[in-house]
Parts: sequence; C-alpha cells; structure tokens
Amino acid sequence: AIDIAKLRASTGLITLDPGYKNTGSTTSAITFLDGEKGILRYRGYRIEDLAEKSTFLEVAYLLIYGELPSQAEYENFTKEITHHTLVHEDIKKILDGFPSNAHPMGVLSSLICSLSAFYPNSLNPNRSEEEVNLSIIRLIAKMPTFAAWAYKNEMGHPVNYPDNTLDYCSNFLKMMFALPAEKYDVDPVVAKALDQLLILHADHEQNCSTSTVRIVGSSQASIYASISAGINALWGPLHGGANQSVIEMLEAIKADGGDAKKYLDKAKDKNDPFRLMGFGHRVYKNFDPRARIIKKAADDVLGKLGVNDPILDIAKELEHAALNDQYFIDRKLYPNVDFYSGIIYRALGIPTDMFTVMFALGRLPGWIAQWKEMRENGEPIGRPRQVYVGANERDYISMNKR
Ligand code: ACO
Repeated sequence: AIDIAKLRASTGLITLDPGYKNTGSTTSAITFLDGEKGILRYRGYRIEDLAEKSTFLEVAYLLIYGELPSQAEYENFTKEITHHTLVHEDIKKILDGFPSNAHPMGVLSSLICSLSAFYPNSLNPNRSEEEVNLSIIRLIAKMPTFAAWAYKNEMGHPVNYPDNTLDYCSNFLKMMFALPAEKYDVDPVVAKALDQLLILHADHEQNCSTSTVRIVGSSQASIYASISAGINALWGPLHGGANQSVIEMLEAIKADGGDAKKYLDKAKDKNDPFRLMGFGHRVYKNFDPRARIIKKAADDVLGKLGVNDPILDIAKELEHAALNDQYFIDRKLYPNVDFYSGIIYRALGIPTDMFTVMFALGRLPGWIAQWKEMRENGEPIGRPRQVYVGANERDYISMNKR
C-alpha cells in the first residue's frame, strides 16, 4: 500500500493521474471538444460545416494560422505546398533499405524524421519565423509523397513522383495507385471523399499523439522529430491503429459466420480480453460527431462507387446491437470515428495497413498547429512526476554473493 504521508514528506504533493484522465497539460485555442454533448469545433468552426463546405488545405491553414484564409492567402498557401512536394532524391535510398514487409507507419515516421537530417537548420531552436514556416510547408507538402512511397515499397513497385498539376488528394492518389505501364485517372469521387476524411481527422486536441508532439517539441527537438514521434504514438491499436483493427475485426466476424451478437457478448465478457474495436472514446461519452458524418459519407461513397461491401452490413448490425445493449449504454460506449473510416478507405481501394497512414496524413495540420502553439506560448519542457513504489535503500551485493 502507498504511504501517502511518507510520500508527501519525501516528494512534496504530487497528483497521481495515470493516463492523464483529468489532467490538463496546456491551454489551447485550437480545438474545442465537448465529449458529453458530442461537439467538435476547429478554431470555433463546427466540424459539420468544415466537412461539408471546406477543403483539407483550407482547414490546415485555419488550424495552423488561426483564421480561414482569404482567396489570395489560400492560393499562396496551396502554391507553396505544391511547390515543395518533391523530396530529396537520397531519401529514396533510405526507402530502398526497408524490407517490403515493413509496416508503412514505420517507414513514414522514419522518412519524416530523416527530414531533420536533410534540413539541419530545423535543429536550431532560434531559427527565424520564416524558416519555421518553411518547415511547416515542407511537412504538409512531403507527407503524401512519403505515404505513397511507403505503400509502393510494400508493393515492390517503383515510386511515382508528385504531379503538381493535381490537387492535394488527387496527387496523393496518383502517387499511390498509378503504375508505369497503365494510364491512371483519379476518380473525383474518391479524391473528394478522401479530402473530407482528412478534414475530419485534422485535429482532436490533446490526444495521445498530439500530446507526444507537444512534449517532444517542448525539449526543442526539431519539428520533424516531433511530428515523427506523433506518427509513432498514433500507430498503436488503441489510437490511430484502431481503424485497421476495426476492419480486421469485421473480417473475422464475417469469416466466423457473420454473427455480430456473438462478438458483442465477447466484448462484454470481462474474462475475455476482446474489445469491440471502434467503440468507446476517452473523451466522447456521446456519439462522436465525426462518426455521424463518416457514417453518412460511407453510405454516399459506397453508393456512388457502386461498392457492395458485406462488411458494412456487419458493421451496421454491430452498431445497432451495441447501441441497444445495456453494457454499452451504461458505459457510454458509442462508435468512434474509426468505426466507419476503415470502411470508406476500403471502398477507396486503400489497403488495410495504410489506414493509419491516412489518419496521420489527416492529423498532420493538427500536430503542426499544436506544436506551433506550444512554441509560441513558450511552454516549459514537459516532465511529469511519478509516485515511486520500488525498493527502499539497500546495500550493493557483489555478484559472487547473490
Ligand atoms: N469494448 C468493450 N468494452 C469497452 C470498450 C470496448 N471497445 N471500450 C471500453 N470498454 C469498457 C471497459 O472494459 C471499461 O469497463 P469497466 O468499467 O466495466 O471496467 C469501461 O468500458 C471504460 O473503459 P476504459 O478502458 O476505462 O476507457 P478509456 O477511456 O481508458 O479507453 C478507449 C478508451 C481506449 C478508446 C477504449 O474505449 C477502447 O479500447 N476502445 C477500442 C479501441 C478503439 O476504438 N480505439 C480508438 C479510439 S479513437 C481514436 O484514437 C481516434
């Protein structure tokens, strides 16, 4: 048992809050989230409006610079990003060193981190604002190139270079899917659906990966190293990896006869480690507003593309069963954004192990905005305390006496 009085005497008063469930790490003016009411706003703008009316690059500008851009600002921002899509040719050598079975998240985080070596100026905490801004532009511009290349490495295909005549999402899709011997035209329905998915993922206040970006950035490590750390944090199945786990779960249910109820019971069984992937959220104790938008988008996109996916039927059955089940009602477990995003990604032809990469592509402006805010606020280095529960002082015993 922990002796609180003794602890206080030795360490002062420490708040113990594993998982930081009730600990605020910062003030922030970027994203407003009310988990009880299911509200999400970027810089005050409703996620529903942005998803319907905006574009991903406009939302990126909004998150990073705080205001919606004027026409001229938007055009300049887009032009700058398009100009920087190409990456240093030597980065291809790093890519070539990865085995083809390397998970694309590992490849992506490594390539992003390598930018600190290609642009060593980013290591200087006192570089000019102009240079900081250039790093931001480079990140947004080069991330789709790296993401597509990570996929090409997996497929054993030659990489495609960016096509700067295309918009952000179309260029990414072409780099992903075009093959040297075939003509490839980007389907505008697919590009639009992807753009909307990226908007929905663009920021979500102090989640695991964003907190990671801020805490790594607080040591004044380079912006590339900080974003790379965020990608690694996102990789886990309890965070960004959940969209991949959702599809794997739905496929397993289908292979097992499609009995959604059986898996619902498994998720409720406390002796079974199985959890319903895509359900529950640390902050939302109501419907995740992004899940609502995505659910509708999934129906639209699958309809427009003429995709008939039995997995979607299982997903709907599971959702219906869970929303009417007392276990899920009592714990306020609702579908989260990842429950439906994987279904759309599948319909767009994006392979399962690229789902988390797509999430990273969407979250990038949020990570950048949060990193920039942390820097502008002059926040101190992040350094949580602990409550020590190990051995008391003891004498060293030489090896021959142990
Ligand atoms: N299936 C079954 N039971 C669940 C689930 C689930 N998906 N999620 C939570 N529970 C139960 C827990 O067993 C616990 O029950 P208890 O009170 O009887 O012990 C209760 O609900 C509370 O769960 P916690 O794990 O304490 O909630 P926490 O806030 O720590 O976790 C998390 C949130 C990690 C998202 C969790 O709900 C989960 O594992 N979900 C599945 C993975 C997932 O979809 N992750 C994506 C998150 S969203 C994102 O990153 C974009």
